[in-house]
Amino acid sequence: MMHVKLEDLKFKYDGAQSYTIDGFSLEIEEGEIIALLGDSGCGKSTILRILSGLEDRVSGRIEIGGRAVLSESVFVEPEHRNVGLVFQDYGLFPHMTVEQNIVYGLKGMSKAEKKERLCEVLKLVKLEGVEKRYPHELSGGQQQRIALARAIAPKPKLLLMDEPFSNLDAGLKKKIREELRDIIKSEGITSIIVTHDLEDAEGTSDRIVSMN
Ligand SMILES: Nc1ncnc2c1ncn2[C@@H]1O[C@H](COP(=O)(O)OP(=O)(O)O)[C@@H](O)[C@H]1O
Ligand SMILES: [Mg+2]
Repeated sequence: MMHVKLEDLKFKYDGAQSYTIDGFSLEIEEGEIIALLGDSGCGKSTILRILSGLEDRVSGRIEIGGRAVLSESVFVEPEHRNVGLVFQDYGLFPHMTVEQNIVYGLKGMSKAEKKERLCEVLKLVKLEGVEKRYPHELSGGQQQRIALARAIAPKPKLLLMDEPFSNLDAGLKKKIREELRDIIKSEGITSIIVTHDLEDAEGTSDRIVSMN
C-alpha cells in the first residue's frame, strides 16, 4: 500500500486566469524521500500548501497513511493532517526561544514529555544546548535545523520541506544535504523536498519527480 497518494489535484488561485495545479498525481512509499524538482513558478510551493491543508477549494484526492485528508466529501484541517512543514524562510517565531518554537506544536503531552521530545529532536539535529536562544542568535544553517526539529517533533506522517537549501552557503550545501538525509532516514519519515536545483534533488532524495 502506498503511504501517500495524490490523485488528480487541481487548484486555481483566487482571481487567477488558469489552474496553477492542473491534474497532479503522485504516489509515495512509506519512508521514501521524494524531491519535487521544477523551475520557479511551476507550482512546487503550491503543492506543499495544498498537502498541508493551507488551501481549500482544491479538487482531487489526498491520502496520508491510508486516511483521506482531501476528497469530494472530506477536508481535514491543517492541524489534524499529521503533516510537518519547513518553510523556505524557516518560519521560526522570532519572539520565541528555540524551546518555545519546538514545543509549540506538541499537543496532548505533559510538560515532562514535551521536555523529553525537545531534547530528542535537538540531539537529532545536533543542536543540544541552544534551547534558550532566540532565532536571531543562530546562524542560517542552525535556524534551518531548528525548523526541521520543530517539524519533526510531533512525529508527522509526512514531512514537507520547501527549498531547504536556498538560504545556505554553497560551500556548506553538500554536508547539509547529507546531514538532512541522514536525519530524515533515521526517523523513517516519508518526505517531500521541493527544489529547483538538480544537485540538491540528487543529493537528498530516493526519487526525483519533475514538475515542469
Ligand atoms: N497567493 C497567490 N495568489 C495568486 N497567485 C499565486 C499565489 N501564490 C503563487 N501564485 C502563482 O502560482 C504559481 C506557482 O507558484 P509557486 O507554487 O509559489 O511556485 P514555485 O514554488 O514552484 O516557485 C506562480 O505563477 C505564482 O505567481
Ligand atoms: Mg516556491
